[in-house]
Amino acid sequence: MNEILARARRAIPGGAFTTYVLDEEVDFVVKTGKGSKVYSTDGTEYIDCVNGSSPMLIGHAHPEVVEALKSAVECPSNFYLLNEKGIELAETLVESIPCAEQIKYGVTGSDATFLYAMRLARAFTGRSKILKFEGGFLGGNDYALMSMSPASPFPNFPAARPDSAGIPKVLEDEVLIAPYNDLEAVDQILAGACNEVAAIIVEAQQRCIDPKPDFLEGLRSICDANGILLIFDEVVTGFRLAWGGAQERYGVTPDLAAYGKVIGGGMPLSAVAGREEILRLANPRSPADPRKCFTGSTACGNPIAAAAGIATLKVLSRPGTYERLNEIGDRFRTGASEIFQRHGVAGQAIGSGPLSQIVLTDIPVTDYRSSVSGDLRMQRKLTTGLVSRGVLTHGTFYFSLALSNDDIDRVLDALDNAMTSIF
Ligand SMILES: Cc1ncc(COP(=O)(O)O)c(C=O)c1O
Repeated sequence: MNEILARARRAIPGGAFTTYVLDEEVDFVVKTGKGSKVYSTDGTEYIDCVNGSSPMLIGHAHPEVVEALKSAVECPSNFYLLNEKGIELAETLVESIPCAEQIKYGVTGSDATFLYAMRLARAFTGRSKILKFEGGFLGGNDYALMSMSPASPFPNFPAARPDSAGIPKVLEDEVLIAPYNDLEAVDQILAGACNEVAAIIVEAQQRCIDPKPDFLEGLRSICDANGILLIFDEVVTGFRLAWGGAQERYGVTPDLAAYGKVIGGGMPLSAVAGREEILRLANPRSPADPRKCFTGSTACGNPIAAAAGIATLKVLSRPGTYERLNEIGDRFRTGASEIFQRHGVAGQAIGSGPLSQIVLTDIPVTDYRSSVSGDLRMQRKLTTGLVSRGVLTHGTFYFSLALSNDDIDRVLDALDNAMTSIF
């Protein structure tokens, strides 16, 4: 282990800022990033398919974002009051997000899902339970970590199993878990509890698992029929699957949507978007409304993050962006399928648009349980094999607009080589 990794291990548990850790033999510290690449402190180049866990959708240090940041840092960085950049970005979000009549800023995606969307839904409906889907990652908050990645033997639906210690036991009764893509199961779960459920929260495309054709429309109808709010977690899908996010891509409009990642251009910024009659509950000026919710934190609407977000969205708004992002994802998926076939290995690259994931199974992946039905140990080995060949991934691929066809072909070559050495 080199000195800087050793320093990290001494100061930080496991030498890890988040839960994402590279295997020991390929672990490294990032020195810098440019376009589609990141570079380690020892000078090794990696094609970046993690992209900061996905906010860097236009690649690292894009010149227009760097320019916007340079101008922004010449001013003070926090006011705790309205600022022009924050208002400009809010206007763009309201114009662009189908469900947005208004937005309210947070700092992290977890703020947007937990502190804002779920709280607003509870206040608006006067109910307390939340239905989420097994395997859905909605941030690190206590609700979202219910059945995020449960291990077999799986609990029976709708029982929730926390994925972290330290979560109050009482919350297990507050979260109902359903299998993704299964409307019948949602109906059955709600049959006994629909008057208690404030919201169904879903990643419309659950990471790399596509929704079945009628799934999202079905959720919309179930919510409408039962006075339940539909929340889309668009922290990953927003401005990525389409300019209008999963809402545009799949043609279903939720009541509320949580945004993060891309809208801050790599800086900390998130937002909840939705109908005015719901967002009104986040209005600090409203007189003693018993449904009024606390929303806000010190860095909300931070002008530097807003400047990076505005510059990023400007790049994404140009003609051809989403065609190119789809083309990148498709090139990878087609190439990966061909490699799996050639090696005679049951494997697939699932996903759509610039989101992809390798799963070592040939059964159709439609929900969490099918997504973990493959050989997870070999999947981890394959991921490490890719990193050792200069492709940074955690098994999921968050492709950026900065990738050239040559970059994707290099990723596929690395996959081919890693398969040869592992299988
Ligand atoms: C779909 C989704 N929602 C919420 C979050 C939480 O965002 P943050 O890490 O900014 O708290 C994430 C983070 O990866 C996410 O993928």
